[in-house]
Amino acid sequence: MALLKAFDPCAICLLCLVLSASELCNGGITGNFLRKEYSPDMPLDSDVFQVPPGYNAPQQVHITQGDTDGRGVIISWITPDEPGSDTVLYWSENSKHKNRAEGIFVRYKFFNYTSGYIHHCTIKNLEYNTKYMYEIGIGYTIRRFWFKTPPRTGPDVPYTFGLIGDLGQTHDSNVTLTHYESNPKNGKTVLFLGDLSYSNDYPFHDNTRNSHHFMEGETMRVVFESWFVKYKVDVVFSGHVHAYERSKRISNIAYNIVNGMCTPVDDQSAPVYITIGDGGNHDGPAIGMVEPQPSFSAYREASFGHGIFDIKNRTHAYFSWHRNQDGYAVEADSFWFHNSYWNPLGKSFVAQN
Ligand SMILES: *[C@@H]1O[C@H](CO)[C@@H](O)[C@H](O)[C@H]1NC(C)=O
Ligand SMILES: *[C@@H]1O[C@H](CO)[C@@H](O)[C@H](O)[C@H]1NC(C)=O
Ligand SMILES: *[C@@H]1O[C@H](CO)[C@@H](O)[C@H](O)[C@H]1NC(C)=O
Repeated sequence: MALLKAFDPCAICLLCLVLSASELCNGGITGNFLRKEYSPDMPLDSDVFQVPPGYNAPQQVHITQGDTDGRGVIISWITPDEPGSDTVLYWSENSKHKNRAEGIFVRYKFFNYTSGYIHHCTIKNLEYNTKYMYEIGIGYTIRRFWFKTPPRTGPDVPYTFGLIGDLGQTHDSNVTLTHYESNPKNGKTVLFLGDLSYSNDYPFHDNTRNSHHFMEGETMRVVFESWFVKYKVDVVFSGHVHAYERSKRISNIAYNIVNGMCTPVDDQSAPVYITIGDGGNHDGPAIGMVEPQPSFSAYREASFGHGIFDIKNRTHAYFSWHRNQDGYAVEADSFWFHNSYWNPLGKSFVAQN
């Protein structure tokens, strides 16, 4: 398994660590900054929500990964007035010939709300490391954008990911995004962790996040942890909990709820768990952290911010966490990852249990 496998975004799951009473011994650093508790949503007439001019002009245009090796993208957009065209025209920067791909559209109803026409179009077989232009809204108001495909994957191909959790639509979300975009080290791709946006103004909005996701995380850990350790996954990013936390490399694979062996042990084959659930959600950051700081916790803080994960080569990757209240290039927390599969430190990594 290569480093890129270990750092594969597909391995990124929502995962929370169990906080059991027996783990309560002195841990790492707790940042003392505390945000205000409630972050209001930006009003619907804010500048950031302004709709583009022109009849049936495509809105909320975004792209997501369209295959597992970086040669596909899914382009999504919304048309407000009528379905319009599902076609995407695209061409590489150095080519004059426009290719055509056909998508689909869907629509949904939620109580008395009816969505616009939501289009998705998958483009495949793109060249690596190439800038593509594309056009949508064919027939009425055409809008043009571009994206760049990643390099061909391999263990020594450098790549940088931005990490943003639980973004929401609050003023803090806007600050997080602006801060990320201004960060000189910002990534080539952003991984959004956890909840991207909430239906805050509708019934059944989940307001019981912390207690609810507590056991959800435990179920995930029981299911996945032994695989993480077996395959030497180096890092697991998650959202959902509205604070930042970085764990030490610890595992708890002997724990099965009934045997009571619930003290995590140092384990160099285990991943570092990083929670970035702090993009600027409505509920405000999670407060009331477990005290004292559990032994597995290396750094935690109830601030908003973003992360940068910078893969250098098969043995090294650098992670940094940037708080909204700091200057653009400031790293509130950082960590050098030494890949445990390629074993750069020459240690023997034996899973303990
Ligand atoms: C969002 O941030 C941008 C960039 O800083 C700013 O121009 C804009 O006014 C902000 N909008 C809101 C609604 O806060
Ligand atoms: C939908 O229902 C909500 C709550 O009942 C109400 O506040 C809102 O005005 C309604 N919207 C429309 C478009 O009817
Ligand atoms: C991998 O990257 C690290 C950090 O940039 C560097 O120190 C190391 O020499 C690199 N390894 C190789 C084999 O290039």
